Amino acid sequence: MIAKIINGLKIAKKIQKKIKKKINERKKNGLFRPGLAVILIGKNKSSKIYVKNKKIACKKVGLNSKICKLYESTPEKKIINIIQDFNKNPKIHGILIQLPLPKNLNTPKILRKISYKKDVDGFHPFNTGLLCQRNPRLRACTPLGIMNLLKEYKINIKGLNALIIGASNIVGRPMMLELLLAGCTTTITHRFTKNLNTYIKHADLIVIAIGQPNFLHGTWIKKGAIIIDVGINRLKNGNIVGDVEFNSSYLKASYITPVPGGVGPMTVTSLLQNTLYICENYYDKKNL
Ligand code: GUN
Repeated sequence: MIAKIINGLKIAKKIQKKIKKKINERKKNGLFRPGLAVILIGKNKSSKIYVKNKKIACKKVGLNSKICKLYESTPEKKIINIIQDFNKNPKIHGILIQLPLPKNLNTPKILRKISYKKDVDGFHPFNTGLLCQRNPRLRACTPLGIMNLLKEYKINIKGLNALIIGASNIVGRPMMLELLLAGCTTTITHRFTKNLNTYIKHADLIVIAIGQPNFLHGTWIKKGAIIIDVGINRLKNGNIVGDVEFNSSYLKASYITPVPGGVGPMTVTSLLQNTLYICENYYDKKNL
């Protein structure tokens, strides 16, 4: 079996085109332009690249963006004041704090300061709770991007045994809730899981997000499995690879996402989508 490659770049472009069209229509109808604030704290190299890409994507679709760069040593109180100013700013509709935060900062405490209505990442307990109760509003960007990919490729996942490898707050946990909501039987594994292979060989759908280059080998997976690779790992030779050993998995899976060009472009697209969602649902209608 040779897998069908899920082209995230193509789908991301298609969705971004729709977002751009909607933003242009807003302008024509006299509605305000959506605005996104991104807070970058410290000097994590990958975070800097991600934030730059977010800024470029906003510009492409006609969204206003404001990047706020802070030193690692910025006191928590000052960070919270900045968030509260953005909460009140009528030109800002979405707020994102790039993760991971420097170790000295209390991540959950800081994330909770973002108004749940501007929580473009879907990390606020209110939004996570709603997803948990099958009533999602703002949804975490990477899991939302993956759900959009599955939808675009018309892959029916109802009833599948879905395995999520990696239990992070950013990907694994919200991904588990998304797949549960979509009718999968979900299992989530993590660093303390024993006999990971037992779970892998029974999985019809695997989402892996562990940050370990080429970890998942094709010989472990079930024939025809759907493989979604969230990993973005830079090797010493400069090459970017995922968490999946692509060549062996490609020969056994039914669908597979490549790295780069799979899940990555969808994450930033979800961010644009969520910013527009906030404008349409919390500001245009004011009825949620
Ligand atoms: N760092 C890696 N992925 C993400 C994400 O989706 N949102 C935020 N805020 N930080 C991240």
